[in-house]
Amino acid sequence: MSNNATQLIHSIPVDPLTGALAVPIYQTSTFVQEAPGVNKGYDYARTGNPTRAVAEDIIARLENGSTGIAFGSGLAAIDAVIKLLEAGDEILAVDDIYGGAFRLFTHIYQKFGITVNYVDTTNAENVFDAVTPKTKLIWIETPTNPTLKISDIAAIAKIAKANRCLLCVDNTFASPALQQPLTLGADLVVHSATKYLGGHSDLIAGFVVTKEKELGDKIKFIQNASGAILSPFDSWLVIRGIETLNLRIKQHCLNAQVVAEFLTTHPAVDKVYYPGLKDHVNHDIASRQSSGFGGIVSFTLKNDTEEAATAFVTSTQYFKLAESLGGVKSLLCHPAQMTHKSIPAEKRKAAGVADSLVRLSVGLEEVTDLIGDLDKAFSSVAALTNKNKTVKA
Ligand SMILES: Cc1ncc(COP(=O)(O)O)c(C=O)c1O
Repeated sequence: MSNNATQLIHSIPVDPLTGALAVPIYQTSTFVQEAPGVNKGYDYARTGNPTRAVAEDIIARLENGSTGIAFGSGLAAIDAVIKLLEAGDEILAVDDIYGGAFRLFTHIYQKFGITVNYVDTTNAENVFDAVTPKTKLIWIETPTNPTLKISDIAAIAKIAKANRCLLCVDNTFASPALQQPLTLGADLVVHSATKYLGGHSDLIAGFVVTKEKELGDKIKFIQNASGAILSPFDSWLVIRGIETLNLRIKQHCLNAQVVAEFLTTHPAVDKVYYPGLKDHVNHDIASRQSSGFGGIVSFTLKNDTEEAATAFVTSTQYFKLAESLGGVKSLLCHPAQMTHKSIPAEKRKAAGVADSLVRLSVGLEEVTDLIGDLDKAFSSVAALTNKNKTVKA
């Protein structure tokens, strides 16, 4: 399915049993059978649930995949993909990876004999050079969290195919409304549906979508065997969020572009990271592989200290200081002390996550109010910088 709004809205089925326009929440743990093994397609709700099945079907269509599999969190979805691997296998992963994925790979899977090689995937040649016969999975996020690095999905998919390894794209930041990695050659997509798919900061959820049914069946097996499923109510919340996905994403992109351009003009700002800016190093690739640049903007301060970043993130009114992103309300966070604190400081800085880096999740408020909010917060940074200068003098 394309990211056509009509198709998206009407891919959410009317209930065949009652005609209910909204998908019913099947809040049940089990299903009555006529005889052992004779049932209406469901037996036990870990294995399958009709509300979850609708959510899984919609996300599979949105991503142009064969199979969608829903999990209790984005990390549970990532975990299910890694369970495809065996001891001795290697993951080649983007260096600016989400901190939780780094923690999972390093602190859980390395002890089971799975190794990880982090490389800068923004240049596909680096991926080509780093693949070894042990590499079984290439893992990219594009855009990355939080420095909005862009990797060329189609080019990396070719490298994966040539080396008989799987390519998995974490599509959380773009969402399928902007980018469909499976169409560009990836084998798997994962989502933290906690973010744009849910869209209202009111649930934790994750999805895996596979291009091929055979791979989808393997992930389904893992979903049932490991059991980290999405509940019926949270499945319903995701479905309801997806109804407005296209509309929300359009406005997130418009607001984020204005915010990013404002930041480039501000004297307190050092670098601005947003793929929609013409001077973003991979702006051309982003323009080619996605139909918009998303709602996340990051920036660093000229006063590159955690202290200055803390002054900034505690001074805004509309941008609330919180982990997470992708909701209606604008959020901001300081990755060095929050989302990325599980990554050692040297590794974090080497991947571009500076001490003062601030990540904005630009919401759906009036953009002029958001600019005014940021402008005021910059005054707090200026006050702190001036105070420090006076103390030193
Ligand atoms: C890019 C990305 N992937 C995965 C996750 C993990 O998702 P969850 O928090 O739903 O487990 C996050 C969470 O912030 C994320 O930003």
